[in-house]
Amino acid sequence: MRYPPLNPRHSHLIHGADWNPDQWLERPDILDEDFALFPRAGLDHLSVGIFAWAAVQPAPDVWNFDWLDRIMDRLAAAGRFAILATPSAGKPAWLAQAHPEVQRVWEAGNRSEIGGRMNHCWTSPVFRERVAEVDHRLAERYSRHPALAMWHVSNEASGACYCELCRAEWHHWLQRKYGSLAELNRRWWTPFWSHAYSDWTQIDPKDHCLDGMWLDWRRFTSEHIAGFLGHEIAALRRHCPLVPVTSNFMGSVPDLDYWRFAPVLDVISNDAYPVYQPGEHLWIQASNDAFNFDLDRSLKGNRPWLCMESSPSTINWAGPAKLKRPGIHALEMLQNIAHGADGVCYFQWRQGRGGHEKYHGAVLGHDRDPSARVFREVQDVSTMLGKLDDVVGTPVPAEVGLIFDWESDWAIRSGSGIRERRPGLPWGQTAYQGACKDHYRGAWGNGLPVQMINGDGDPAPFTLLIAPAMYLLRPGMAERLAAWVRGGGILISTYLCGMVDEDNLVLEGGWPGQGLSEVFGVRYQEIDFLPDADRVPLAPVPANSLGWEVTVDATDVCCLLRSLGAETIASYGGEFYAGTPAITAHRYGAGTAYFIGAQLPAAELVDLYRRIADRHGLRRAIPGRLPLGVTAQVRSDGATEHVFLLNFTGIGQTIEVGPGCTNALGGPGPADGRMVLAAHGVAVLRRTTQP
Ligand code: GAL
Repeated sequence: MRYPPLNPRHSHLIHGADWNPDQWLERPDILDEDFALFPRAGLDHLSVGIFAWAAVQPAPDVWNFDWLDRIMDRLAAAGRFAILATPSAGKPAWLAQAHPEVQRVWEAGNRSEIGGRMNHCWTSPVFRERVAEVDHRLAERYSRHPALAMWHVSNEASGACYCELCRAEWHHWLQRKYGSLAELNRRWWTPFWSHAYSDWTQIDPKDHCLDGMWLDWRRFTSEHIAGFLGHEIAALRRHCPLVPVTSNFMGSVPDLDYWRFAPVLDVISNDAYPVYQPGEHLWIQASNDAFNFDLDRSLKGNRPWLCMESSPSTINWAGPAKLKRPGIHALEMLQNIAHGADGVCYFQWRQGRGGHEKYHGAVLGHDRDPSARVFREVQDVSTMLGKLDDVVGTPVPAEVGLIFDWESDWAIRSGSGIRERRPGLPWGQTAYQGACKDHYRGAWGNGLPVQMINGDGDPAPFTLLIAPAMYLLRPGMAERLAAWVRGGGILISTYLCGMVDEDNLVLEGGWPGQGLSEVFGVRYQEIDFLPDADRVPLAPVPANSLGWEVTVDATDVCCLLRSLGAETIASYGGEFYAGTPAITAHRYGAGTAYFIGAQLPAAELVDLYRRIADRHGLRRAIPGRLPLGVTAQVRSDGATEHVFLLNFTGIGQTIEVGPGCTNALGGPGPADGRMVLAAHGVAVLRRTTQP
């Protein structure tokens, strides 16, 4: 099985960059240089026009597409493609001055000043009309242009607006959802602190006291922004029904539900700026990024996606800007491909001379020197991508699923008392995504490819499903999972599982609720949240069915579990709950449900997942055991597999890859079934799919 290429006219992996010729219109020498160097860098796609609204519409009734015509024509003549952006993320000053309503109102109540970017209102009819007009003109002019590969709507669309227009939309959204204030008052538990509403307009989204409102405001905002993208897409489609449309996401950004965005787009794109500094924690950072990449692929059900932005060297906004060490760039780019990207692009092609991002990394630096280290590393990536045409369109064969549900994240963050919401950024604020990324790492570290689903997703395609901190249960979720386990599925969940319903109201009768206690064979009603320095030891139970023999310290959270028939794999070895279960396994129908009641360190969790995978015979990307910090990922069309070996450690590693593999990138392949990886090295192996 193979999906069509992201750009139907390009059957190779995409290699591209954001390019801002609108910043250099006075410098034809620079534009000539750009065109001379694109092929030398091996860039085939250029993302243009992202912040060019003022350049194409310098005044309300003045349009200037001449420069863009020339750029598009030159791209086509040079055999390059444009990912043509709509410019809605940055608006011209004249528009903001003439119509202050287009400016976003922030939560503090202040309206944006002229300038900046991504600070517009999502509702303003004036803004929507102006955006539709510029989009329509772009589509009318370029829909049949030979350089046009894809539309890129907006840029990192995000952030809520609290203006009167958006508040009115919010009130309409609530009316449609609840029908009556009586229903809303009931489901939001408004007797709390005398919140009962008698008029829709009283409902102020800035009030953080009601946990139901906290969820609904994020649901509304996600749908409203997705609706705005849909509005832009409709303007393009009038002239251009066939060219694919994308928009760039920001990984697992906390306040937007990308499951709600995905249906309006043809292609998912992602921006990723990992701070890949070599050192002890490189592999932790790497697996967190891998999580986001698998999420990008999963948002449209295992479809290849595009890395729209990454930095070829430094970033200008994240702490001390250390240089990317030699070799790390190829490792990072092939990591994207390993998890389903069909191309990698950079922010940015050329460093600008002015503006806030003039020291951000770029393919071409201020020295304009194509023999510079960064430029050469980009060339190396280009050479590697050129050897991987067979990868284009291939999905990831994942036997392991993971439930990633933004509503659980929001609900946990609203739960004051889950290790405190204030001050600073305490554990509770990152508890959900932290649990998801920790448990994802259990699969990543064992070379088990993962696909993600939303809580309402279908577990049927998976052998093993990980549902970390599945705090919020919407109707049907628990029943669906129970039936799947009864039928033979292997389910893993953790602390904070099954505690609230879709309205963020606590489930009564012990957790996990809605019948999941029977599935896991455990129940809990007390949770011990540990201050940072506290540890509670866990001791393996002799002769447990996983053969787990590790003694380990739990941090941050320990659920006090009572067994309802589950086997105890490990019990707490300290505190007043010493001797009670901490990790359990439970046969349920034909399946097994594991409950991991405490937060465990990364290495031990990888070990625990290895034992679970072995016990249930899960197929790993390679037969051998992976050293900590190395992963193996697979893409397959069903007949041929590409196995990506990625070494996020600073030492060389020898990996047992089994028979029948050749080196897809050229150079020495495996010898005696073993492949040698350099420190921070990467290899791509090709083999025939095994039955
Ligand atoms: C992204 C943004 C780009 C650029 C980049 C710098 O978030 O989409 O336009 O600002 O960051 O890292």
